[in-house]
Amino acid sequence: MKIIRTKNYDEMSKKAADIVLKKIKTSSFLSLGLATGSTPLGLYKHLIQDYLKSYTSYEYVTTFNLDEYVGLKPHHPDSYHSFMKKHLFHHLDIPTDQTHIPDGIAEDLKSECKRYEKVIQDAGGIDLQILGIGTNGHIGFNEPDTSFHSSTHVVSLADSTRKDNARFFKNPEEVPTHAITVGLKTIFNSKEILLLVSGKNKAPILKQLVEGNINESLPASILKKHNHVTIIADEDALSLLQP
Ligand code: PGA
Repeated sequence: MKIIRTKNYDEMSKKAADIVLKKIKTSSFLSLGLATGSTPLGLYKHLIQDYLKSYTSYEYVTTFNLDEYVGLKPHHPDSYHSFMKKHLFHHLDIPTDQTHIPDGIAEDLKSECKRYEKVIQDAGGIDLQILGIGTNGHIGFNEPDTSFHSSTHVVSLADSTRKDNARFFKNPEEVPTHAITVGLKTIFNSKEILLLVSGKNKAPILKQLVEGNINESLPASILKKHNHVTIIADEDALSLLQP
């Protein structure tokens, strides 16, 4: 895993945007894996700024989000459908039918997982996957002890994840208990992965990831087996690691 060290959150976001934009500009078609949460917001802001200034087109980009809460309608303000529209898709020329997010209100969730996995595979998999990391080491919503062989599946969210994400909800009680997430095998099969890590609260898990073993108790550790992973982390996130 290559580590790019940045001064702060904005520099991390800018570096990530430069890599994503270069990929978009040099690919005739790009399958881009996207994440939600606080971490990628700066990256999305830079992509929008670039679009307004340089008109980089997303006409040939297809996106796949990592996850969606079970039980939230796409129009629910706290759904990841709403999050992505608000923070990225609305501002770009990407055709709506090229943006994919699991359906958290599907009647048959298992079939929905199969369908979503197939859409990713039919697109030839993910070319470039953007990831954040949870304070418990999750990527997507793959909580500790998820199988490294997992494809898209329904998960029961860890209490720590529900607490971490309560800040996005008006009423913390409303954080759903379940989600659909792209699995660890699907993430691992991405051709290239960018893991963004920012802030002091992520320093312990980043240290554990970099210095620890590969183990399903730390889902992100699967990335250590991948030969094209770049971690872009700010000084706060790197503060517990040797310089
Ligand atoms: P955050 O979440 O970006 O809001 O810190 C990261 C994650 O849970 O993957």
